[in-house]
Amino acid sequence: MAGKDDNEARGRAGANQSHLWRPYAQMKTSSPPLAVARTEGCRIVLEDGRELIDGIASWWTACHGYNHPHIRAAVERQLAAMPHVMFGGLTHQPAETLARRLAAMLPGDLDHVFFSDSGSVAVEVAMKMAVQFGLNRGATGRTKFVAFRGAYHGDTTGAMAVCDPDDGMHARFAGLLPQHLIVDLPRDVAGVAALDDLLARHAHEIAGIVVEPLAQGAGGMLFHDASVLRALRDAADRHGVLLIFDEIFTGFGRTGSMFACEQAEVVPDIITLSKALTGGTLPLAATVARRHVFEAFWSDDPGHALMHGPTFMANALACAAANASLDLFEREPRLLQVAAISAALKAGLAPCRELPGVRDVRVLGAIGVVELQRIDNVDTLRQRFIAEGVFVRPFGNVVYLAPPFTIAEDELAVLMCAVVKVVGANPASS
Ligand SMILES: Cc1ncc(COP(=O)(O)O)c(C=O)c1O
Repeated sequence: MAGKDDNEARGRAGANQSHLWRPYAQMKTSSPPLAVARTEGCRIVLEDGRELIDGIASWWTACHGYNHPHIRAAVERQLAAMPHVMFGGLTHQPAETLARRLAAMLPGDLDHVFFSDSGSVAVEVAMKMAVQFGLNRGATGRTKFVAFRGAYHGDTTGAMAVCDPDDGMHARFAGLLPQHLIVDLPRDVAGVAALDDLLARHAHEIAGIVVEPLAQGAGGMLFHDASVLRALRDAADRHGVLLIFDEIFTGFGRTGSMFACEQAEVVPDIITLSKALTGGTLPLAATVARRHVFEAFWSDDPGHALMHGPTFMANALACAAANASLDLFEREPRLLQVAAISAALKAGLAPCRELPGVRDVRVLGAIGVVELQRIDNVDTLRQRFIAEGVFVRPFGNVVYLAPPFTIAEDELAVLMCAVVKVVGANPASS
């Protein structure tokens, strides 16, 4: 039987010539992935020799472009000294330095850094921190979170449970997930009053409020004003719940400031970081807590310790890459580059407003979004971008650009022209 199963498996794999199971992909019908030989600057070089300008910086990570020599050299040095060592009972300079630098960069007393290896896990850690914060202070039963429609916080079950439950990609898993309070962002007086009312009724069971500040990314590239974040801070304080900002997408310059929270002048109690943390070279994430959160765990009771510890926590290669990435933010004019990209996106995507089937065009920092009435076949649209020599991945009903900050003017112009052309030819627009 084993032989037969093996043969069948080989037959199926042979049909698409790969044993890989791919992300978010219907393996039967989606176009085969493009084989990449190497990356360079803002370009993805395919095995067949074609070059694509990357419009989305590898899921928003490659903020300095690819293969930056400074990051590469730092990782090579670290590889020779020590690629990894477990973090239980041991520590190392790359992690100590990175934690100190992150604490210094982040606003207020966001000073205590817990490393993990992916954004989803950083969110899980933030949620566990918030729940145990209550438990350590004697408040049992605070296990629920307030989160928002349009949100996306990751693919692990804890994080999935605070994503948009209806329109999000996790809707079909409802039965698996704990139930939280998912509501509209408080965008006006009535919204703030509704949130206040919800918190008044449920504060005894709520550990925290979780939000992606200024830009909800994978939930639809939806933007909101800084005033929303100030309202959340006030509401969290009024009702004694923690405020968690998920800056996994927005952190490290993407919205125009180093962290989105700076634009609102709001200090959350916990912040999550990942994606551009290592300049897109190695997986690393951080959950950073303010002093009062950390102090709730500071005790003679071993049971008050934060009960989390990923095997690859604070991986030394990743920490070295992140330190090098922070050097680049210090030495090179990244935020000025973001401002220039922002201005170019506003001008370059404006013609999309006139195209049929376009519902909205919006820009925030180095994020440019064209929202359509609908996209009937996202795969077709993606293939059209490839034919234009660019790598752009529409999803839901949005076509967006979130390029590396180092992108050249002419490369960005190619990306924007491709968006105007492909959106103009979108069959759903007719
Ligand atoms: C805001 C936000 N939070 C969490 C995540 C999950 O990160 P990861 O894919 O590294 O688990 C993402 C990923 O897109 C994200 O955009």
